[in-house]
Amino acid sequence: MPSQQASKIFVIGATGAQGLPVVRGLAGDGKCRVLALTRDGNSARAKSLLGMGDVSILEGSFADEQILREGLRSCDGAFVNIDGFNTGEKTEMYWAIRTYEIALEEGVRFFVYGNLDYALKKAGYDSRFRTGHYDGKGRIGEWILSQNRANCDRMGAAVFTTGPYMEMALSSRTPMTPTVEDDVVTWRVPLGAGAVVHVSLEDCAYYVRWLFDHPERANGMNLEVAIEHVRYADLASAFERVTGRRARYIDTSLDDYFAGALKAAADRPAGYNADPDDPSTMSFRDNFTGFWNMWKHNIITRDYDLLDRIHPTRIRSAEEWLRRMDRQEREAGRGGLWEMVQPENLRTRSVLKIGEDQRRGRL
Ligand SMILES: NC(=O)c1ccc[n+]([C@@H]2O[C@H](COP(=O)([O-])OP(=O)(O)OC[C@H]3O[C@@H](n4cnc5c(N)ncnc54)[C@H](OP(=O)(O)O)[C@@H]3O)[C@@H](O)[C@H]2O)c1
Repeated sequence: MPSQQASKIFVIGATGAQGLPVVRGLAGDGKCRVLALTRDGNSARAKSLLGMGDVSILEGSFADEQILREGLRSCDGAFVNIDGFNTGEKTEMYWAIRTYEIALEEGVRFFVYGNLDYALKKAGYDSRFRTGHYDGKGRIGEWILSQNRANCDRMGAAVFTTGPYMEMALSSRTPMTPTVEDDVVTWRVPLGAGAVVHVSLEDCAYYVRWLFDHPERANGMNLEVAIEHVRYADLASAFERVTGRRARYIDTSLDDYFAGALKAAADRPAGYNADPDDPSTMSFRDNFTGFWNMWKHNIITRDYDLLDRIHPTRIRSAEEWLRRMDRQEREAGRGGLWEMVQPENLRTRSVLKIGEDQRRGRL
């Protein structure tokens, strides 16, 4: 079993919404060095990584064996979040498998895989819940844990299962972007009375660091995280309590949802470099139908007691998260959450790099 903590960690997805706090959590106190993979070392996000600690950049793509080899060979840890919204489900699975195999071959000591729930399996293999960007990761998460049973003396591995970032409910160009209608913040999503297992990005920094700091406990573990199960009627009430402004959730049919802001994208491939002529490629509509059904029907569970033990000061409710975000916005001189969701402000801020890049970039 691995016992030594990794000292230099190769991070795939470092400039992303998840990667930025993860790199900060790993490198921020000087205990670890990070080698961050990016396709563009000159992007503002790539440059921001350099101020987080002992961070260096490797320019290239995860869809390139030589680059993977170069990055993994020079590190003893790896955090791997392969962007399925670039590749599409099929190609994501291939590169995730190759990354694990090459990490093992190149002498990495501890491997953490950025995962999502295997929705199709957790829903009893019912196609209404098929969600390419979840299932692609979830299958590989299971595969890595099964490989790890034989390989763990050579390289330990853990799976880090997240869910939709809480920030997505207050950001532009996401599946749950709010609108402001007649001065009421409005979430129109097909969620019924279900709940989304929203995740705090700030807490991801802590959890990933914890996995690398506790290799003996983390080895073979699937750490499934969330703030709480967030019902959107409760999210709207919490928003009202925090801001004093009106907010509401409007349960929406899938047809109305895909005729709304996602209309232009609904029939395009969910992965911007996935082959539209490949019959295995899921469209936005197919992919996010499964996604919303998963939340609507409460398919996904979390062990909150375990999370409390691992991260005693974790964010425990959407309201707590909203209060922190409101405070941070005010401290940054941008007003609070109410100002944040106004269309002119929302338009210019995207928590996801893919939103900033407008779904463009090479594989
Ligand atoms: N949105 C959510 O709530 C959520 C929650 C959990 C998990 N996820 C999953 O996380 C993944 C995306 O990460 P994110 O949420 O952090 O999104 P993001 O903000 O859009 O970031 C995408 C990241 O992937 C990197 N990337 C994309 N293509 C690459 C390539 N060919 N080679 C190297 N790096 C590449 C980007 O780096 P450069 O552009 O700098 O090259 C960037 O760091 C997706 O698989 C998604 O399903 C998303």
